[in-house]
Parts: sequence; C-alpha cells; structure tokens
Amino acid sequence: MNPPASAVSTATDGTIVVHSYLRPGEERTLAEDVLDGLTKPFKELPPKHFYDTRGAELFDQICELPEYYPTRAERSILVLHAAQIAHATGAGEIVELGSGTAEKTRVLLSALAAAGTLRRYVPVDVTEAMVRRCADELTADFGGLHVHGIVGDFERHLSHVPRADDEPRIVAFLGGTIGNFTPGARRRFLRQVARLLRPGVDHLLLGTDLVKDPAVLEAAYDDAAGVTAEFNRNVLRVINRELGADFEPEAFEHVAFFDREREWIEMRLRASRRMHVSIPELGLEVDFAAREELRTEISAKFTPQRLRDDLAAAGLELTQILTDPAGQFALSLSTPTG
Ligand code: SAH
Ligand code: TRP
Repeated sequence: MNPPASAVSTATDGTIVVHSYLRPGEERTLAEDVLDGLTKPFKELPPKHFYDTRGAELFDQICELPEYYPTRAERSILVLHAAQIAHATGAGEIVELGSGTAEKTRVLLSALAAAGTLRRYVPVDVTEAMVRRCADELTADFGGLHVHGIVGDFERHLSHVPRADDEPRIVAFLGGTIGNFTPGARRRFLRQVARLLRPGVDHLLLGTDLVKDPAVLEAAYDDAAGVTAEFNRNVLRVINRELGADFEPEAFEHVAFFDREREWIEMRLRASRRMHVSIPELGLEVDFAAREELRTEISAKFTPQRLRDDLAAAGLELTQILTDPAGQFALSLSTPTG
C-alpha cells in the first residue's frame, strides 16, 4: 500500500523501508485526547502518550525490575516454544504491534531463521526512534531480513500494514499491551487485527498477563525503586512539552491497585493538593481538588476463559495456549474462523 504524500520513506539498500503516519499536523490525537480526558467527570488519559523517548527508556527500565515479572515470563515462554511456534505457523513474516525494542521478538525471529522461513519483519509503533533503531539492528543481525517499519498508531493505521505475501504471517501483540484496552475496545481492536489474517494460514500471537495474587500484581506496577511512578508521571511531562501545559509532575503521587471485580490493574495520578493547571494550546484551564485522581492506564489480567471468549468475539479461534513454568503469563496462537 502506498504511503500518503506526507509519509517519510527511507530505503537504504532496499532492505529497510520506514513509513511514518505521525507527521506534525496529522498527530492531533494528543490534543483531542487531553481535551476529552481532562474534561470528563472522572479525569483520565489514554496510555499511548506515555511513550515519548524518555517514556520508552523508562519502560525499558521497568522490564528489568525485579517486581515486573511479565517480560521475563513471556520471554521464557518464547525461549521454550519458539521452535515449535515456527514449525506450527511456517511463518515468513512477523507483523508486530507495539514492537518497542523488539527484544523478545528476536527469539522468534531466530527460530524462523533457523527454520529457513524468515523473510520480513513489520514493526508498528508510535515511537519513531524505536522503529528506526530496531530496523537497523535487526537487519544487521539477521542476514537477508527485510524490514518494513510503520511509525503509527495501531488503533488508526492498521490499513497501512503491507499485504501478506504467499507465506504465512504471524501478527504478534506482546507484552500484555492488549490489557491496556477496556473490554469493549479490546474486542473491537481484536476484530480489526483479525482482518490482517487469512483463516487457517496466518496466526495472531498474543501475550496476556494472567490473574494472580493481587500482591504480586500490585508490586509489578508499583516498584520499590519508583521507576513505574516516574513512568506514570512522564505523561504529564509530555503534555507540558507538547501542549505548553504547566503541570507539576512532582505534585502528583503514583497510585496502582488491582481492581478485584474487574480483574485489572488501574494506574492513577493523585493530586497531592488543590491545583490549577493551564493548557494554553487547548485554551483549557483544569482544576484538581486535593487528592483528586486522574486515571492513566488499566492493565487487564486474563483467565484462559476470558481469553477464549474475547478471541471468539473477534472471530478468532484459539489453536494453542502456552504458559511459563510458573503459570504467570500466557502466549496464545489463534487464527480467524473464516
Ligand atoms: N512489545 C514490547 C513493548 C511493550 S510496551 C514488549 O513486549 O516489551 C508497549 C509498546 O506499544 C510501546 O513501545 C509503545 O510505544 C507502543 N504503543 C502503545 N500504544 C500504541 C499505539 N496506540 N499505537 C502504536 N504503538 C503503541
Ligand atoms: N503493557 C504494559 C502492561 O500493562 C505496560 C506497562 C507496564 C505500563 N508498566 C506500566 C504502563 C506502568 C503504564 C504504567 O503491563
């Protein structure tokens, strides 16, 4: 598919192409999301705005924290089962949504390379620097690999994912990022993703964090070193920089708790005192009462049944569920029912 005129294409020796759909002027969603979110009766912001360059660095640090088990658990599943996933799918291409540094994806790319099927990797991420870096690193490390990077929003730009060729494709959505959608939006999103897949030929590889002891869950989102707290406050810094706002990030406390009824982690920022914030670019003045909370993210946790039901509602049939030895995290393969 052709990029719009404003997209940037970089072809080095033909193995890397990066198309950006987030050129200035197109990326108005921060302004709209902030206007919507901060004028709601219960203030909230969508999570994709955490990930500027600093946010991406902080997320990397989160993945190394002793409390943040999901990255290690998901990685261990890949290490144990990548060869079998390569065999079961015969995939020549991986399209990865929210690819980040693609650190874990390397395990899978290696398995496809060993099976002799690996041809193309299509990372999709809002953070341009990450897409470019992983394109450079992966083409250097995997001889003959083509990378077609997409700098874009996976909620709005899936139509720009290139057409699948003859070989089977895997669409990977790792890290439990699917949990950041509310239940209805999650099913709607999975339905969109299913449209990238051919029944019986292509597979969705989905990483989902599992319901477990609330203390373990809460620690994963409220680490002792305070990295997650910094990450959470980073969204205020993004709004200050991009929209000229005057949030005092340090005046907001990080709050993370497991909602036992809805079975999701909820992340909030709590105003430590009354505050008035101006957001000139939006012509918006916002008041916070002392202890008022702003919701910044949910991270839903799954049971196998919830996973099956969500996939089924999106027209996807589960073909395999793999978990790590401690049963903390699940990776599943599914294909459209056709
Ligand atoms: N897949 C990696 C990173 C997970 S963090 C892992 O498993 O470790 C979530 C990633 O999704 C970040 O890199 C972030 O930049 C990206 N992201 C979040 N919302 C997005 C959106 N709406 N569109 C595209 N990328 C998004
Ligand atoms: N998708 C990750 C998750 O839900 C992202 C994440 C981890 C995150 N820690 C966070 C997002 C803290 C915001 C704040 O596990």
